[in-house]
Amino acid sequence: MRLRSIALAVITIFAALLAADAAWAVTIGFAQVGTESDWRTAFSADMKAEAARRGITLLFADADNDVERQRTQVLGFVAAHVDAVVLAPVVVTGWTETLQKVHAAGIPVFISDRAVDSDPSLFVARIAADFNLEGRLAGAWLAQATLGACSIVELQGSVGSEPTIQRHKGFLAVISQFPNMRILHSVGGDFTNDGGRQAMEGLIHSTDGLKDVCAVWSHNDNMLLGAIAAMHAAGLHPGHDQLMVSVDGVPDIFRAMLAGDSSMSVELKSDIGKYIFDVVQGYLGGRRDYPKWVLIPSALHTPADAAAVLASRGL
Ligand code: AHR
Repeated sequence: MRLRSIALAVITIFAALLAADAAWAVTIGFAQVGTESDWRTAFSADMKAEAARRGITLLFADADNDVERQRTQVLGFVAAHVDAVVLAPVVVTGWTETLQKVHAAGIPVFISDRAVDSDPSLFVARIAADFNLEGRLAGAWLAQATLGACSIVELQGSVGSEPTIQRHKGFLAVISQFPNMRILHSVGGDFTNDGGRQAMEGLIHSTDGLKDVCAVWSHNDNMLLGAIAAMHAAGLHPGHDQLMVSVDGVPDIFRAMLAGDSSMSVELKSDIGKYIFDVVQGYLGGRRDYPKWVLIPSALHTPADAAAVLASRGL
């Protein structure tokens, strides 16, 4: 009897040690979009730092905004026998075949940031903010600031990506409730500073120096920062003659607010490694009750709290 209890205790300790090993010694493949924006580079840095804090071996792949390359990188993680894949997809479509292969290899997939339109059974959960809400928040702020009368130029992000699709839809859903609000022109800027600058140079030319334009709505801060530079170069006054509205909440947009050049930004949190790895490690540890969408909250900032936000980030 005594021998049996000792044997049972030894087995229990062994099982606990194995479980602990499974929880800590994990290798995770992270397929990242690229380096197109300050938000993206902050997100990558946070994932690396958070993985290191947790003792996770992180295989990091940068797709440089190329979806073909990203698919190959994800399959590379399968060949490397990772314990889990975290995918921030460049675009929404075309993922089913790749995800089926990862699924067939028995490797769980976690979508972060942007979305895919594949069958949700092919991934465990998406951990991300609500891009449609960000668009609606921007539209609602602009509607109240202009009493529902404003002609807008829009700088769109990368074609086919979830934030571009949803921020446009959400913004339009709100402003279309106001008969005197409309988007005059939508131009692509690929989420980059340079893309925003070039798009704005074209707009300044085609609208006779933004004549009759009341606001610039940009799908991210970096494009807006590029647009602000183009407006200054053309002798215009962003933030004064046009309201300047965007998404991300990167440090330079708060500096632009303090300089009077930017009016509002909806913050997209970049320090989200903790949310992502909580779900991945929880799942690998046996937890199965995650919702398909683990929502990360958004917040709206204006020049009124710009200095406080920078100070809270130690900047
Ligand atoms: O997917 C999130 C978007 O991608 C960010 O808002 C933008 O800056 C980034 O490039």
